[in-house]
Amino acid sequence: MTEIRDTADGSTLDLLRTRRSVPPMLLDGPGPTPEDLDGWLAIAARVPDHGKLSPWRFLVIEGEARERIGETIAAAFRADEPGADEERVATERRRLARAPLVVAVVSSSRPHVKIPEWEQVLSAGAVCMNLVVAANLLGYATAWLTEWYGFDRRILDALGLAPHEELAGFIHIGRASEVPADRQRPVLSDIVTRL
Ligand SMILES: Cc1cc2nc3c(=O)[nH]c(=O)nc-3n(C[C@H](O)[C@H](O)[C@H](O)COP(=O)(O)O)c2cc1C
Repeated sequence: MTEIRDTADGSTLDLLRTRRSVPPMLLDGPGPTPEDLDGWLAIAARVPDHGKLSPWRFLVIEGEARERIGETIAAAFRADEPGADEERVATERRRLARAPLVVAVVSSSRPHVKIPEWEQVLSAGAVCMNLVVAANLLGYATAWLTEWYGFDRRILDALGLAPHEELAGFIHIGRASEVPADRQRPVLSDIVTRL
């Protein structure tokens, strides 16, 4: 597995200061090696998790699976929009095929006697962000999206999500062919209250 760079040289801080999303259309191959991906998933799963419930899991969507699931997305879209032209349906079919790799992070929170579901869901968000940071540290770029199909039960069922599970994010991962200009970031004074 490729070594993650040491934080002592400040590279991680630099990354956190400057990282931004890259749209999936700008994410090219090749994707990571299976060893790199396993390393990222292990890092992604190393998050605060009240009660050690592991209320999240991963779906690795790559290769032919991207188009196969795309057929399901296109079929759901066509059922909802019977008048849509073929170009539009093709766009839906390629939703998960824009980047070489998509990792779906599934939030598997359940009611618990002690741990609020809200905390379990937050933990799934932390998983997504750890995955984003790990991939970017190795020179990849990412886009964390849900889009409409991330909330569509037909698609979630086809992906094998249980009724209590939800999609925290489709993390699109690839090599950036272009990095768009950054978007505006919040001004600290607008979001910080010192007590
Ligand atoms: C849970 C979650 C879901 C998102 N879903 C979408 C989406 O469906 N479509 C979209 O354009 N952006 C979506 N975004 C926002 C993108 O990730 C966006 O590119 C990002 O906020 C840019 O921030 P960054 O440059 O710091 O990564 C989502 C963000 C989060 C946290």
